[in-house]
Amino acid sequence: MQKLIDEIKKTSGDMARRGWAESNGGNISLRLNEERFQAFNGFPPKSGWMKLPMAMPEIAGERFLVTGTGRFLRNIEVAPEKNTGVIEIDQKGEACQLLWGYEPAGAPTSELPAHLLSHCRIKEKTNNQSFAFIHTHPNSVIALTYAVANLETKSLTRLLWQSHAECIVVFPQGVEFLPWMMAGSMDLGKATADAISRRNLAVWQFHGICGCGRNLDEAFGRIDVAEKAAEICLRVMAAGGAKQTLSDVQLRAIAANFKCSLDEAIFDC
Ligand code: 13P
Ligand code: ZN
Repeated sequence: MQKLIDEIKKTSGDMARRGWAESNGGNISLRLNEERFQAFNGFPPKSGWMKLPMAMPEIAGERFLVTGTGRFLRNIEVAPEKNTGVIEIDQKGEACQLLWGYEPAGAPTSELPAHLLSHCRIKEKTNNQSFAFIHTHPNSVIALTYAVANLETKSLTRLLWQSHAECIVVFPQGVEFLPWMMAGSMDLGKATADAISRRNLAVWQFHGICGCGRNLDEAFGRIDVAEKAAEICLRVMAAGGAKQTLSDVQLRAIAANFKCSLDEAIFDC
């Protein structure tokens, strides 16, 4: 359990220090692997069963460490038991109960639909090898959704790939662009999970970004690289626009060199 808490402290602290988590902005969830799951055996539930907004049989019986709604990520380092909690999903995937945390009283993030629905897809697409999902508010990714006209998945992905040579290696399947939807809504949750079934990153217009990974480091790293590319892109725009850029030939060569399986459709735009 201590290792689990140490991991979320590191990730949330890094997010806060990067300026990605103002006030209660951003949230984290980690599906517990077998060993971590066992660590919560015998914990008496701290709540009754609370109905999920829709059935999620793919994650029936699973346990998750999830940040609390209204809690500040920067405070997890000082009080993990207040700002995070461990929830358990029932055997039908229809309800959850609290096993630990959110002291003295609280609830999981309002973005729980996006987290849990994405975990269903992540579990499926990685054959049960990936456990982490992060939503956060990094400045440059958000700014890009205001600054560039007619953004969609292909144009956003291409812009990021061209802005920083690491991107095509770190997210060869691209970044899905989601037009603005209400924070915490089922629509946003469903659209995010759908995006995450295809790609490891999803940008929420005028709001932020979501990323998944095998562990918190991988999810954080993907977001970090996308945010760095967005920052470079904005700096280039502020400096009068790109005078040259990575060509499609160069991008494909990088992907081939690092044996990445590309979403070729991105080059259509
Ligand atoms: P929570 O405080 O409910 O986690 O919400 C923060 C957020 O980023 C909403 O999009
Ligand atoms: Zn948010």
